Amino acid sequence: MPAVAKSLVKKKPTIVLQKTRNPVPEGARIESVRALQPVQCAAIELYLQLKNAHWNVRGSNFEGLHRLFEETAGDLEQIADALAERVAVLGGEPLATVQKLAAVPNLADAPAGMKAQDEFVRVICDRLAFYIQMLANAMDAFERNSDYVSQDICTKATGVIEKKLWRTESHLPVRS
Ligand SMILES: [Fe+2]
Repeated sequence: MPAVAKSLVKKKPTIVLQKTRNPVPEGARIESVRALQPVQCAAIELYLQLKNAHWNVRGSNFEGLHRLFEETAGDLEQIADALAERVAVLGGEPLATVQKLAAVPNLADAPAGMKAQDEFVRVICDRLAFYIQMLANAMDAFERNSDYVSQDICTKATGVIEKKLWRTESHLPVRS
């Protein structure tokens, strides 16, 4: 590879694992942690975006959306916890400081100053759909790695988020 092109290749962050008696080979654990960290960080980011929607949404359907966004934030908190603990089980470091979360490219931030309920519904639906795709990408990595425990966590998370996407999207007019 030419030197210039090589310098443009994004380096994978180095992952150093804790010592563990877990018999899963270290290489496989590193690959799983590499796939888990982005979905773990995104769950925390998305949790905050749902709380932002819960607090800021305005409109005639305030009560329903205020409750639904809170419920979805609760789901994401549980998903983030399950993913973070799986990272720790494999000897990796769950990421939870603002600085560390910011270093992992994930979701687009919520537009500033947003209030209108339809706008919130569309933005949250886009983010939930994006997160489902992130989970699918992580599951491809677990499949290659035969990490069925991480896959199971992400499969369950996908079911929960798909259902919340349906409930949120159903606030939009038909075929929009
Ligand atoms: Fe609340």
